[in-house]
Amino acid sequence: GDYRGKFRPQVHYSPPRHFMNDPNGMFKDDNGTWHLYYQYNPTGNVAGNQHWGHATSKDLYHWTNQPIALFPSEKTIYAFSGSAVIDKNNTSGFFANQSNGVVAIYTLAEYSDDGSAGRQSQAVSYSHDGGFTFVPYSGNPVIASNSSQFRDPKVVWYVDHWVMVVAYAQEFSIGIFTSPNLLNWTHASNFSRHGLLGMQWECPNLVPMPYYTEDGQRKDDMWTMLVSINPGAPAGGSITEYYPGDFNGTHFEPVDSVARISDFGKDNYAGQFFFGVPEEEKPVFMAWASNWQYTQTVPTAQEDWRSAMTLPRRSHLTWAERVGWKLVTSPYDMQPIMGETLAYNRSHGNGTLTLDFSDVDSNAIFWEVNVTGLPKRGIPETATVNFTLFSHITAEYVRGGYYFGGDSPFYLDRGGAKGFDNVFFTDKFSTNSLFSNGTWSMSGVMDRSMLEVFINGGMDSATTTFFATQPLTLLVLSTSNLPLGTEASVRVNALKSSWQ
Ligand code: FRU
Repeated sequence: GDYRGKFRPQVHYSPPRHFMNDPNGMFKDDNGTWHLYYQYNPTGNVAGNQHWGHATSKDLYHWTNQPIALFPSEKTIYAFSGSAVIDKNNTSGFFANQSNGVVAIYTLAEYSDDGSAGRQSQAVSYSHDGGFTFVPYSGNPVIASNSSQFRDPKVVWYVDHWVMVVAYAQEFSIGIFTSPNLLNWTHASNFSRHGLLGMQWECPNLVPMPYYTEDGQRKDDMWTMLVSINPGAPAGGSITEYYPGDFNGTHFEPVDSVARISDFGKDNYAGQFFFGVPEEEKPVFMAWASNWQYTQTVPTAQEDWRSAMTLPRRSHLTWAERVGWKLVTSPYDMQPIMGETLAYNRSHGNGTLTLDFSDVDSNAIFWEVNVTGLPKRGIPETATVNFTLFSHITAEYVRGGYYFGGDSPFYLDRGGAKGFDNVFFTDKFSTNSLFSNGTWSMSGVMDRSMLEVFINGGMDSATTTFFATQPLTLLVLSTSNLPLGTEASVRVNALKSSWQ
């Protein structure tokens, strides 16, 4: 693959060539290698002909592209989304003399020659070489069905058995199955019709989620269900919602019926949590940074590829006054890509930082703003933090900012980038984002055609693609009308390309 194009993310994963969508089968092996598989069309720049592409990494930022791992089982039976586990104790019987056997559990999607969708069933393939090559199980499918809307199995281990969550897409229902051996599955219950339904439910996850109180105390994990919906997201197209709750090995019960979205941008879909992550760094998540509304028309096809993954993220739950339950996400340790400090000011106060970073090879930067000492009351409506990323040449821009007063909205605007025109490619997103304890923070990663922002340590976050005709390499960051006694620190770092 050629990773030099002006749209090519330098610190995010994107496929060597052609079309990618959902992350699949992600796990961390006992040697500390992270495995990413993904929905892949190796012959074109639009969706279809689904294989599982494969890449490996030691740090989640530097990836090595590997040969394709799963192939369509016949010309018209594709390998749709799914998950993978390490079957350490050989519950499946595939791994007589090894503890690093990998089992992939995924959907076989049948199509007729005229292109109409046929049955979807769940299948298993196993790998004796740690996840590089797979053999289809001779007893496939392991869960048969006549439905064309039954897909995306995600398997986890619960105390003494395997648990699969799998979507009955157009019934807005997640089936929960149990198994002793990954091959014989028993239907245990359904989780149905909670929150936003949209047109279909896809790519469920069920994870024990660390729960921290607002003052940082760790409580017992809370099982959390995540479901991706498409279309029908509040901002249009596809997005992911989540439900904190309780799981007893067979049934999932959400804490309430509130609809909660994990990202207020438009490019965060079909995410998955890695299997096999050690307790102390759990859980780790990555999603497809695109949206079915426009993904097959974005201009990156000029560079012969389409779609990237989000940054790898860590997550936890918190509960806060006035906002209730929140899934908090932040980038996984960025040290391996963190470059030199381009600007740092511990007491920025009210002012403007202007930084030309056109000499940073990656064109990618990280920044953060920390505000402290905010009063409880009396913050003027005009108190704001704003950033804009400009092109010197065309004056194109993307920007965002926060209003401390009123409902405390944070907004993003990608409408100033002119390299892509599509009615669904919405310009602006916003969310109300309350701060507490007199402190507020924002961090951001800008990576050629991707922007991710994290507010208040990830209490709110957004993932946004954008397509400018010229690199946006001028940062203007300003703080205005912060009340007396408030302090603001700002930092900007270059990011080192993982691909050059
Ligand atoms: C989600 C999805 C999945 C399906 C896959 C096919 O983006 O529609 O439901 O398995 O993509 O590529």
